[in-house]
Amino acid sequence: MLKKYIILFLLFNQVIFADEAKALYTANCMACHALDKQVVGPSLVEIAHYYKENPAGIVRWSMNPGTKRKLAIRMPPMSHLGKDKLLTVANYILKVTKGMKYKPAKEPEDLYKKTAPAKLQRMFMPDAGPAAIAMSLNKNVHICWDAGTCQFRYAWNGKFIDQWPVWRGNGNALAKVQGEVFTKVGQGSPFSQTEEVNFKGYSEKSGKFTLKFSIGEVTFEVTPQALSSQKISLDFKTNAQKNLVYKPGILQGQWSSSKGKILDGALRLSAEDAQSFSIIYSAEKN
Ligand code: HEC
Repeated sequence: MLKKYIILFLLFNQVIFADEAKALYTANCMACHALDKQVVGPSLVEIAHYYKENPAGIVRWSMNPGTKRKLAIRMPPMSHLGKDKLLTVANYILKVTKGMKYKPAKEPEDLYKKTAPAKLQRMFMPDAGPAAIAMSLNKNVHICWDAGTCQFRYAWNGKFIDQWPVWRGNGNALAKVQGEVFTKVGQGSPFSQTEEVNFKGYSEKSGKFTLKFSIGEVTFEVTPQALSSQKISLDFKTNAQKNLVYKPGILQGQWSSSKGKILDGALRLSAEDAQSFSIIYSAEKN
């Protein structure tokens, strides 16, 4: 009997562990690494090939990445995650690649030549936490999403980001926004100041990215879109069972909502309205 409970307990722990590990990997590594193909960085299968039985080696590299592949960009240090979380990610990488064989490409270096700035890029950005994501909505309109607080931070018009300050530097530098910021909010989840916010990664469908996160019991999906050169919408879907309050703390530009009522800088949504609504941000003058 006791044995059964111990096994159940171990299984349960394993599930939580797998979940947290995957979330850490998704939020911090997936922008540049994929399971079995080289993207911005080497595949997980290649990483596991070099670091089999050596998760501590993955942690060491991630704290302070070197330069190994000639044409690859420099990997930004992940030291802000700390060694414990990096070890969780390292074990996750070794686990998901178990039994897979690394086959080097014929001309592995050439593959890195194609690495252009992605449409969605995990980056160290000005005015955002260390888990920032830069996202291009179209050729001219781009936004910064903070995956730590799970919030839209600002939008700009012009070119995407210049990542060289980060890749060239020692990791302390920030990417440069190449254009004019037209709307911006203060730092902090617009939905909740008290409950924990958890980023769950993103998906892409026909060129549009959807970011996923949860706050307490409520799960959120948000798809940002450009409506014009100085206007964006965040199209939200939630499974809220109760009223929701959205308070963006706007610093620049203006905002409105497709549903609910705005009072004293806060939008109040009924549970029904909260299932699907859009927040629109634009420059001061439309
Ligand atoms: C902005 C892109 C980017 C992100 C984000 C990123 N990496 Fe990397 N990573 C790279 C690139 C590029 C290389 C290849 C660098 C080189 O060989 O010079 C690399 C290489 C590696 C290697 C191989 C080291 C070796 O000895 O060959 C490991 C391990 C690694 N990354 C782990 C991680 C982990 C773990 C995370 C998340 C916590 C992560 N990376 C996030 C871009 C990234």
